[in-house]
Amino acid sequence: MIRTYTFPLLILLTGFLVVNIFHSCQPSVKDKIYTPGEIWNDTSGNPINAHGGGILFHQGRYYWFGEIKKGKTWLVPGQSWECYRVTAAGVSCYGSENLYDWEYLGVALAPDTINPDSDIHTSRVIERPKVIYNKKSGKFVMWLHIDSEDYRYARAGVAISDKPEGPYTFLESMRPNGQMSRDQTLFQDDDGKAYHIFSSENNATMHISLLTDDYLQPSGMEKRIFIDQSREAPAMFKSKGKYYLITSGCTGWSPNPAMLASADSIMGNWTELYNPCIGPDSDSTFHAQSTFVLPLPGKPDEFIFMADRWNKTDLQDSRYVWLPLIFLNDSARIEWKERWRN
Ligand code: GAL
Repeated sequence: MIRTYTFPLLILLTGFLVVNIFHSCQPSVKDKIYTPGEIWNDTSGNPINAHGGGILFHQGRYYWFGEIKKGKTWLVPGQSWECYRVTAAGVSCYGSENLYDWEYLGVALAPDTINPDSDIHTSRVIERPKVIYNKKSGKFVMWLHIDSEDYRYARAGVAISDKPEGPYTFLESMRPNGQMSRDQTLFQDDDGKAYHIFSSENNATMHISLLTDDYLQPSGMEKRIFIDQSREAPAMFKSKGKYYLITSGCTGWSPNPAMLASADSIMGNWTELYNPCIGPDSDSTFHAQSTFVLPLPGKPDEFIFMADRWNKTDLQDSRYVWLPLIFLNDSARIEWKERWRN
């Protein structure tokens, strides 16, 4: 009689213990850390593949979009610069609630594997995707850099989806306001207006272009900044009503010093300030290149600076450098940290 009861009780007890041990082994957010430059695995244990990316915060969840870099890297023949590339594999999307654990949500924008004339054919360049949500249309809008393998096409692409993670439908590529567009980002202001910021005029001058209300086209209103300064890799953010833009110099996949600029209004005058990086290798942006600055909800004036540490001869092994961006006496600083947490 006693034995009949003991057995199910034992099973229950073991189950209870297993669940508890499992829970106590799960690190809480407090135990999580960022290790810039090291391999960063997603929640399935695969290295995160989302380069030149940006983050959308929507309904309590973060969505990280980036270039999928996979397979062999090769040097495009006949170029006067280090034109390393991989087959264009589209844009990936990862989801997270805590900014440490990223779940792979799939390919947000798939490349065209069939039509060589398609803007998103695997033979093209698909880089620096950024996504914002349009409240009026209820659509998620992606802008990205579309190019030919020799980077002479220099266009901006637009894709759209009903869901944050996609799939996105590619609408078109264009030269915004008739101008070349390569490295690029988006910025959505508090008033709902959105801006496309891109390296133009053969990378010599950066342009800021106000988008139409549906975010699908340039409105025609634009501003030229950093004239003949050859800046790229733009990442814009706002703090205490002021606008900031971090850019890199123009040295291909090789790193160079970052530059912070600020303006009182987006379409106003931009002043180049200084390199916000501090610590060893600050003159090479810690061997990386800016891609996005993420404001931390609930923490005013605290940001995460996101950069790519490109491995130009093996692009799929490129890494991420995420560092805290804080303001000290009104000046923005990005200090190198081997390990850190929010
Ligand atoms: C960089 C740019 C990257 C990629 C690379 C190609 O300057 O920031 O996104 O386009 O050139 O060499």
